Amino acid sequence: MANKTQYICDQCNFHSPKWLGQCPSCNTWNSFVETVVEKPTKTSSLSRQATAKPMLRLKDIPSVEADRLKSHLSEFNRALGGGIVPGSVNLIGGEPGIGKSTLLMQVFAAIRAYPKLYITGEESLTQLKLRAGRLDIHDPDLLFVSATDIDSALQTMDELQPQLVIIDSIQSMQTQDLTSPAGSVAQVRECTQRLITNAKQNNVAVFLVGHVTKDGEIAGPKVLEHMVDAVFYLEGDSLHQFRILRSSKNRYGNLSEIGLFEMTEKGLQEHSALESLFVSNGLEKSPGAVRTITMEGSRPLLIELQALTVPSGFGYPKRTASGFNLNRLQLLIAVLIRRAGLKLYEQDVYANIVGGLKLDETALDLPMCLAVTGSLLDQAFPTDMVAIGEVSLSGMIRPIGQLEARISEAIKLGFKKALVPDAGYDKIKRYEQQIGLVPVRSLSNIKVWLQDLNS
Ligand code: TYD
Ligand code: MG
Repeated sequence: MANKTQYICDQCNFHSPKWLGQCPSCNTWNSFVETVVEKPTKTSSLSRQATAKPMLRLKDIPSVEADRLKSHLSEFNRALGGGIVPGSVNLIGGEPGIGKSTLLMQVFAAIRAYPKLYITGEESLTQLKLRAGRLDIHDPDLLFVSATDIDSALQTMDELQPQLVIIDSIQSMQTQDLTSPAGSVAQVRECTQRLITNAKQNNVAVFLVGHVTKDGEIAGPKVLEHMVDAVFYLEGDSLHQFRILRSSKNRYGNLSEIGLFEMTEKGLQEHSALESLFVSNGLEKSPGAVRTITMEGSRPLLIELQALTVPSGFGYPKRTASGFNLNRLQLLIAVLIRRAGLKLYEQDVYANIVGGLKLDETALDLPMCLAVTGSLLDQAFPTDMVAIGEVSLSGMIRPIGQLEARISEAIKLGFKKALVPDAGYDKIKRYEQQIGLVPVRSLSNIKVWLQDLNS
């Protein structure tokens, strides 16, 4: 018998045969979503004999580690927590044009699991072939199908029994069982549910592309995030070439891992010298540029902060930040004015993070204060030194998390000195042999440090 659809309130599960603007049960507006309701069959519910599932001891439950599908894309493996888990359903979200299809095409070719299938609902097969050509992908065993009907796609999957399936994108898929259009919450939810059921039954790894709306949500269906096993976002700046693959949910791995790529003519490349991405070229000293080590998840990353101060024309001084939190910049300027006596109230201040990264970390406070002060006093910060630390409203330098990881990264990159919070000094004292540590307590002496460091 054909499935019937009903409209169900998202909030309180109230069923209605027709769409309603407001739920008569919980009074929520616009909460009805079309859903397929299957008629209970004879074998189900009451007449069915329930059988208890076997219990397993913890040690007898198989581990997923051995079965993970890996590729030479080590940054991708890393972001996933070690590789793709068979039977897992993964969502890759990101803004249009960021490189989701490119990434998945590369992954598709790189994973040694056969057969595998790329289902495209958005682009034609000739467009896919063009992309494969650009990416230098010529494997004759790669299978592609152009489909927007999820049931026909599932049929193909049942016949082929693939190990890996890419769906580009979930918003382009639809089932005839629902009258709602493709991309609606109802369709996306139903299609994903059918894919999940298939993936779990046949132990096939599935990747879904999900478009993200302007306000950063996976279009319409935030619901998707709850259904799938892992959610990854491909982020970056369309003006810059780097891309970060970050997980926001992962049932099979660590959330804090990220994958870093660079978008090139030949697709996404893993970047071997990440340090060169986020610092400006050249080693000459320049006032207002300070290097620091930030943490992206559990990975330390060398970045450069820049500040420029210019006398304000008249009226209210202007503060502009690119990549850095503007409120934080204003707070730091206030602290510098009050606690270090800097005449920033008559200066416009521009702050920037090199490479187009957007960061929001309090460990950047101290380097940003040094950049602003350096620009104001025309004093350069040494290029072989990093600065790390949070600044409190009283002007004290506060300790920060993962200081050890940051310091070891600075040592690895060949930095000779590090300005660190006095309060965290004990934890890193043992690195004294490898890097000159300069513990600092309060911003009130910032002018003196800068002079001393330069002499
Ligand atoms: P695409 O993967 O189509 O983005 P999405 O699927 O997220 O919408 O890629 C978008 C951009 O990437 C496109 O503007 C072209 C660029 N690109 C490269 O720079 N190099 C390449 O090798 C490829 C295939 C694409
Ligand atoms: Mg695409």
